[in-house]
Amino acid sequence: MTDHPSPRVQTLHDIRSSLDDTMVLLSLHEVGAYGALVAGPATAEEIAQQLGLVARRLKPFLELAAHLDIVQHDSGRFWLHDGDAKFFDPSLPHGVGLPSTTLVKLFEVKGRGAMLLRGSDVEQATAAGGQSSPAQRADFLRYMDSVSREAARELAERIPLQEARRIIDLGCGPGTYAYAALERLGGSRALLVDRPEAGPEIARIAAERGLTDRVEFQGLDIRRDELPRGHDVAILSAVVHCYSEETNQRLVGRIAGALAPGGCLLIRDCALHADRSGPGEVLRFGVNMAISTEEGAIYSAEEVEGWCRAAGLRDIRTEALEELGENYVVIGRR
Ligand SMILES: C[S@@+](CC[C@H](N)C(=O)[O-])C[C@H]1O[C@@H](n2cnc3c(N)ncnc32)[C@H](O)[C@@H]1O
Repeated sequence: MTDHPSPRVQTLHDIRSSLDDTMVLLSLHEVGAYGALVAGPATAEEIAQQLGLVARRLKPFLELAAHLDIVQHDSGRFWLHDGDAKFFDPSLPHGVGLPSTTLVKLFEVKGRGAMLLRGSDVEQATAAGGQSSPAQRADFLRYMDSVSREAARELAERIPLQEARRIIDLGCGPGTYAYAALERLGGSRALLVDRPEAGPEIARIAAERGLTDRVEFQGLDIRRDELPRGHDVAILSAVVHCYSEETNQRLVGRIAGALAPGGCLLIRDCALHADRSGPGEVLRFGVNMAISTEEGAIYSAEEVEGWCRAAGLRDIRTEALEELGENYVVIGRR
């Protein structure tokens, strides 16, 4: 017998304890505690007074946050790390920092993990279409847009054409990837395709970018509806993780068949290792897809390349993308 838990037991305890860490990280965000520290160092009592919180409870939350290096702490005062204000400043655009999902909502979904494994129905995650309210939809689209701009520029650089007339962005979300492609390929126009309900908010975002004249929106179910034909560039970004292998195989085949001759397809998603051993971030995303969608899953670039080969595309290759975590783009030509 030993007084100390074995390293294996300690590992299990640490994983279990990370639930408390997550709860503290997100609760403080939700009540605006980091935002309150943007103005400068403060005690738990001062923050509690400013935000109408319970100081006795806030203090241990902040102390653990400091221990976890989320904030800094000395002699009862807390402050943000240099450079962190941009993540938490409430006056900055939505979505720059942590996502705005409330803790209750998060745990409502994740707390059903065991039930979902036993076969309970999933509650579809809020997204651009479906059951979401207009406000949830706008939230989702604006969040995607705010985190994807650099990644979209990175993807646009990989388009293997020097010029193009017509671009199609399938499952476009806010349209961020199409806007970057338009910027790179002067003289081109883009057709943005997503669920019909997303149209009005996407039109607002395109207008804010000054691109109303170069884009059009078409509301479609890309799994079932006939796909618009004759595009030089087709972008399918962060969509294959929404669907099963069979659905994706069919979808990629139909997109390839609708491309203009010589046109290219770019499929972007998170990069699962070929042996499915990591990265951890992608495996966590796979769990999220499993508990929040009917058929969503994560795929390696090798699997996506296989769908492109089966669809008859040529010059198929994969390039690593780094702007937004570990992602790949699989590129093929018709
Ligand atoms: C994770 S978002 C990605 C948005 C964007 N492509 C990006 O990478 O930022 C997936 C998008 O695909 C859209 N989508 C998923 N399935 C679709 C379908 N069957 N028909 C039309 N749009 C779909 C969703 O509405 C959502 O906007």
